[in-house]
Amino acid sequence: MAAPHLLIDTDPGVDDALALLMAHAHAKVEALSIAAGNVGLEHTVRNACTLLDLIEADTPVHAGCPTPLVRLPEEDAAFVHGSDGLGDVGFPAPQAQPQDEHAALTLIRRTRERPGELTLVALGPLTNLALALRLDPSLPERVKRLVIMGGAVTGHGNTMSVPAEFNIGFDPEAAKVVFEAWPMFDLVDWEATLRHAFDGDTFAAWLKAGDRRARFFDQIFGKARQYNAMRGRSGVIAADALAMAVALDESIITRAETRHVGVETEGRLTRGSTVVDWENRLQRPPNARIVFDVDQAAFGAMVARALGATD
Ligand code: RIB
Ligand code: CA
Repeated sequence: MAAPHLLIDTDPGVDDALALLMAHAHAKVEALSIAAGNVGLEHTVRNACTLLDLIEADTPVHAGCPTPLVRLPEEDAAFVHGSDGLGDVGFPAPQAQPQDEHAALTLIRRTRERPGELTLVALGPLTNLALALRLDPSLPERVKRLVIMGGAVTGHGNTMSVPAEFNIGFDPEAAKVVFEAWPMFDLVDWEATLRHAFDGDTFAAWLKAGDRRARFFDQIFGKARQYNAMRGRSGVIAADALAMAVALDESIITRAETRHVGVETEGRLTRGSTVVDWENRLQRPPNARIVFDVDQAAFGAMVARALGATD
């Protein structure tokens, strides 16, 4: 299977960083568009550049929107990713620098230049994608495939809005714009992420056997490791890595169902939740292929290779 050509919208972020290592190890990355989310945009842009320095990649970086479309966020994810988004390791200022072109504009331009060729992978809040859609509603026609990490399809979320997952809950209005505008996308949700956590010892062995990428990830994962231990979570949970694996090779999907998925933007208890019409009661056309299960060994092989633990 030919390696895809990727546009990646991301809010690095520790698990974003792992996904970006996978993308650069297994595919051609055309550009990174950066969202605010895990931490503020200044940090997420810097973190993308820090990672590109590490792997000596010249992938263009485009800063996006610093805030959600409508309401200011109630929480970020610094408690997991560190206040700087990369585990508060304290990396020096990166050599790589962002481009002048806005993230939303680069998504529009690059897909106009290469219609039908690029796979778009969304690993953070969907603010940039929503803005691009408002500027150019024809965007979905030119994107070969959209893979979104987001949502919690049966309401087991991970934010203070209980049924909401972070990427959707951070900017529900943006997610609603994207979910309503895109005819069909792959959805890799938080619940699938938890089902595909890596065994801690297995992951530790990859970090031990890996190269500088493994050493980098071991450093940035420190705060998240502590948080997981405090929450009694065993293993390594990597939402964006799972979404990236699905984007890199959709043949690893072993179980999926297409359904209509909506986004709640108003609920006092449910704002940001992803609402699945499981029985198609509203007779709306399905817009999402919900990924339930993937080949875990194949997923792990992609991660191990991205860390330099295997050839
Ligand atoms: O809920 C998990 C998602 O939120 C991941 O993309 C993680 O990086 C955070 O952005
Ligand atoms: Ca992310």
